[in-house]
Amino acid sequence: MTHYTSTVLDRLSDGRTAHLIVLKNKNGCTVHLTNYGARLLEINIPDKKGNLDNIILKYETLADYEQDDAYLGATVGRFANRIANGQFLLNGKSYQLSINQPPHHIHGGNKGWDKQLWKFEPLEIDGGAGVAMHHLGKDGQEGYPGNLNMTVRFILTSQNQLAIEYEADADQDTIINPTNHAYFNLNGADTILNHQLQINSQKITIADERNIPNGTFLKVENTPFDFTTLKNIGEQLSPAHRLIGNGFDHNFVIDDYDGFLKAAATLYEPTSGRCLTVLTSEPGLQVYTGNYLGRPEKSNPLFFNQHEGICLETQHFPNSPNVMHFPSPTLDAEDVFQSATVLVFSIEEF
Ligand code: BGC
Repeated sequence: MTHYTSTVLDRLSDGRTAHLIVLKNKNGCTVHLTNYGARLLEINIPDKKGNLDNIILKYETLADYEQDDAYLGATVGRFANRIANGQFLLNGKSYQLSINQPPHHIHGGNKGWDKQLWKFEPLEIDGGAGVAMHHLGKDGQEGYPGNLNMTVRFILTSQNQLAIEYEADADQDTIINPTNHAYFNLNGADTILNHQLQINSQKITIADERNIPNGTFLKVENTPFDFTTLKNIGEQLSPAHRLIGNGFDHNFVIDDYDGFLKAAATLYEPTSGRCLTVLTSEPGLQVYTGNYLGRPEKSNPLFFNQHEGICLETQHFPNSPNVMHFPSPTLDAEDVFQSATVLVFSIEEF
């Protein structure tokens, strides 16, 4: 049996109450969440010796999450990643989104889903338990068209799998691209550079110096982006490459995209034996090695080392509303948007 509990976490600065939701399965694995930003706070899973540890970066207090600009554990949207100049055309009409990373729009704008207090309810499911969180995005909020009824479900199963399911409908045609922004660190070391990564991807989207894809692709073969077999992340980063600055922050095109759930990537840490396999129905995986973590002073509660965590963000490609040959992030008013990502945790010895 997987159990669900919910308690008060704390009050937000505006006085509203945020909740802590804990899912626990029969193996003792727990997932801690809050409805503030529909965020993952902790994922506690065993290492090869049976020690349970949290394997995602977290802050200590709710106030820290209110200050957060690294999207720790958050559900990110309405559109994850960047839209060039915050502009796009839909049905011949031009839309201007808020510009929160000049000159571009990123991760839903100034007050995206990560800064919203979501409604929530428990979910009882065969072989698992979970929580469904709901948010109603208003027409025009951050510039997006249409009222958007958004649901994200987090379900922990007795097989140590965490399913994240997104569902949405809108009263006008709009765009949508949700993801989760957890930073994984499978052994609690100072950085994830000793982790190993494998990605089912033969190519990445080529982006400019401000991370906007220009519509072309680079084959990963014979480049540091070749993760077709398990590779040490630090070693892949050490040779200089014109498309790599301070770490990976690149969109990998998942092989054989057809909208159905399939294995996208595996993250493995040899000393703990912890292994995370990511399955997704999405066409892209933004691999972000926490390049902009590393605040000036260690006393800052938001401090993390650069590269202390790695995000594996399943999503449509950055700037896809503006690149016609990328899979479309348009949600028609008469359709229901559905997308799923499953995190499978195991102990391995590769
Ligand atoms: C993006 C990075 C960005 C980070 C935090 C990632 O999803 O790819 O470029 O710095 O989120 O905003």
